[in-house]
Amino acid sequence: MSDRRSFLTKFVAAGGTFIGASLAGLAGLILSPRVTAAGRKWRKALPVAELPASLPFAAVLTERHEDGWYRTKRQKVVFIDKVGDEYRALSATCSHLGCNVKWEATNNQFKCPCHGGCYDRSGKVLSGPPPRALTAVSIRVNATTSQLEVEL
Ligand code: FES
Repeated sequence: MSDRRSFLTKFVAAGGTFIGASLAGLAGLILSPRVTAAGRKWRKALPVAELPASLPFAAVLTERHEDGWYRTKRQKVVFIDKVGDEYRALSATCSHLGCNVKWEATNNQFKCPCHGGCYDRSGKVLSGPPPRALTAVSIRVNATTSQLEVEL
């Protein structure tokens, strides 16, 4: 009888330990999700020789995004332009509510299709609801590859 009681006591203790360890592991997974902010990286946009001279070029770049447990890829559009000897890159994301602006060559301006916001070629707001200019993106020429690279 005492062997049976001793066995039951050990069995219950082992079961309790197993359940406790499982709950602790589960709590650890829930309380500390894998949040690793994707750092900014230089990304290839296009070869320098392929940049059109007369209008901003819309480079579509794929960006990895991590949000807690979710890893997704999303596309980011950056307008690349040459001003004198300098290169300029502007995010295509409208500063109002985040739609992608488009370049309108006939009006020489960026126009947002959502609420009609207009920006000049440097990204300054001309009219409409956008509260601020288009966001400037860092750009460089990779001398080794002759590629224009933007930092996203
Ligand atoms: S999102 Fe561009 S004007 Fe509203």
